[in-house]
This record gives sequence, C-alpha cells and structure tokens, in this order.
Amino acid sequence: MTSPLTRRALIAALPAAAVASGCKGHAQAPVQTAPVPPLKAVAQFPVGTCISTGKLGDPALVGLVLRNVTQVTAEWEMKMEAILRDDGGFDFTRPDAIAAFAGQHGLRLHAHTLVWYAQKAPAFQRIDGNKPALTGAYRNYIQAVAGRYRGRAVSWDVVNEAVKDDGDGYRECLWSRNLGIDYIPDAFHLARAADDQALLFLNDYNLESNPKKRRTFLHLAEALLKSGAPLQGLGTQTHLDINLQPGMVTTAMRDLASLGLPIHVSELDVSTRVRGLDLSSPQERADRQARLVHEVVEAFMSLPPQQRFAITTWGLRDSDSWLQLAPNPPGVDLPLLFDKAGRPKEAAAAFVAAATGR
Ligand code: G3I
Repeated sequence: MTSPLTRRALIAALPAAAVASGCKGHAQAPVQTAPVPPLKAVAQFPVGTCISTGKLGDPALVGLVLRNVTQVTAEWEMKMEAILRDDGGFDFTRPDAIAAFAGQHGLRLHAHTLVWYAQKAPAFQRIDGNKPALTGAYRNYIQAVAGRYRGRAVSWDVVNEAVKDDGDGYRECLWSRNLGIDYIPDAFHLARAADDQALLFLNDYNLESNPKKRRTFLHLAEALLKSGAPLQGLGTQTHLDINLQPGMVTTAMRDLASLGLPIHVSELDVSTRVRGLDLSSPQERADRQARLVHEVVEAFMSLPPQQRFAITTWGLRDSDSWLQLAPNPPGVDLPLLFDKAGRPKEAAAAFVAAATGR
C-alpha cells in the first residue's frame, strides 16, 4: 500500500501525458490509485454509506456497497418527504425497501431522520399554528415511523440540524414555532417510547469548520443529557471541502468526544470544487482531499473503541453524490472515495492507510 505522498512521487514519474490530462478544468479525474482492499475489511469500526432505492437498481453500485460497507443510511427515503403523504397518511413503500435491502444483505441500518427543519411536509405546514393538532401529529409521526423500524434500525438521527448556521442559538422552524424548543427532547422521548432498542442521535453539520456552532451543538447535547432525554450518540455530518485547514477535524473530533457518547461521522464527503479563482491542478485537489480523509479517519481512530459508532460516506462514487444535483453544476465536484466508474481514488487509499494506522 503506498501512502499519498509516495503516490505523488509515483505520479511524478508518470509520462507527462498521463498527468497532463488531468490538468485542465475540474471534470478530468486525476490518475487513479492502485487497488485498495474493501474498506470494511481494514476498518476497526463500522463503515457505512447512504443508499436510495433509485440507485439500488445499479448492480455496479450494489456491488461496491456490499464490498465496502457494513452499514447503510437512507439518503432521503426515511424522511418525511418520502413517508408523509399530503393527506397526512403514511406511505412506507420506500423506507421499507431500504430496510429490506439492509436486512437482505445483513447490513446495519442507520435511520435518517425523524425531525429536520428542512422537511416542509404539506400535512404539517397545513396545521402550522394549530398547536394541539400539530402536537398530536408530531407525536403520531414519530411513534409510527420509529416504531415501524424497531428491531431493524440500529440507530436513528432523531433530530437533524437543530443549531443555527452561525452557531448563535437554535433554528427557528415549524417545530420550534409550535412546540417550543422542547420539540427536541420530546422527539427523543417519543422515539425511545416507540423503539426501546435503537441508539438515538443528534446530528448536525459544519461542526469541524465552525467552532461556535460546535460549542452550541455540544451545549444542546449536554442540556439534553441533563434533562434526562435519551440522547445516545452524536452525528457529525462532516461535509468538508478541500480548503479546510489541517487540524480542524482533529480538534472537532476531540471536542465532540468529550461527552463520552458514540460518535458517528455520518455524511462524509470532501468537495473538490473550489469557488472563485482556482489555480490548483486536479492532482493537487485529489491530494488535499486524501489528506483530509486521512485526518478524519485518523481522528476517529483516536477515539476509544466504544465511541467509534461508524464512519458513513455520503455516497461511494463521485457520480452518486448529492453535490452533482442542482444547483451544483454536474460532473465538476469529485467529493467521494471512488470515481464514477467505481475505481478507488487517492482518498480511498488514504482512508485505508489511516484505518490501518499508517
Ligand atoms: O428520485 C426522486 C425522483 O424520482 C422524483 O421525480 C424527484 C422529484 O420529487 O425526487 C427525487 O428524489 C430526490 C432525491 O434527493 C434523489 O435525488 C428528492 O426529491 C430530494 O429531496 C432528495 O434530496 C436529498 C436531500 O437530503 C433532501 O432529503 C438528497 O438526496 C440528500 O443527499 C440530502 O442529504 C442531506 C442529509 O439528509 C442531511 N445533511 C445534508 C445532506 C445533503 O443535503
């Protein structure tokens, strides 16, 4: 196994044409790295990725998933937008298919997510302001959904992205407007009442790049624990970009682990898309991505084993990433560990190197 630095030396020795092809624009992927072992085979922690039923029809992707991970997260089909019909009824077709895939292949299922400010389900929007109706519908939704996957989901992101982007307090949303900030502990208690087995997580993003947001997130977690809410894990989405300074991930991981709860790197990707003037080459961007992936895994490996819940990448192939979807320009960003053909990139080799202590 060659380290990223060694690989750069190897690449430097390649014929200029082989490297030059990657030096113009973002679309060309850099030179591919050597084969890597299955991520799940070398990791001393569960490795996951997100899936959606639309992509499960792709045998190449399913093969890559089964080769590399032992856990899956529903990318969008266990959210209100896939379950809650406009008339207030439930349609479990999509989440059941996700759970069936996980069960069929012996994969752990991390369920995502019960309560998220961004899910503006018409059935809830319609009763915005009617506190009794909304309280009842909120309770009913969480009980029905969390209860349905009891024994099949090992864990839930109970509340997603409750902290304001600037870290100055908590998001104002449909739930807080009608239920107050107690919508957060209430969700945990309701989920626990419906499923007495699943580990219950609080999940958020930019906790590496924004120390103030991380402090507010941890303050919320501590307050939940003190209130007796059944909070059992912290999810840090870890949607990074290659401009993140070295060391930020390591500092964040140490802070997040300070409460002693299991940590889930829940949505790892490292955007290579540089806004503004970008003088870097595709290879330089690939190197920076690999170094950040290495830091994430190395920081995660520094946790006590009981705090290593999982590292989940938000997709496996660059082409499957949400960062290919509007408003992002498709095909520019190369945020994941495998290229669009499913070949391992330098970032995959870095993941393996860090997971094996190199
Ligand atoms: O596949 C259907 C298509 O059949 C249908 O015609 C179309 C129109 O409704 O929808 C398509 O599904 C879309 C799905 O992505 C697949 O592309 C959903 O509308 C769309 O809402 C969904 O977006 C997801 C988004 O969360 C909102 O749920 C993204 O895939 C998913 O990557 C993104 O993930 C979030 C995490 O949950 C939380 N952290 C941030 C992360 C990225 O935004």
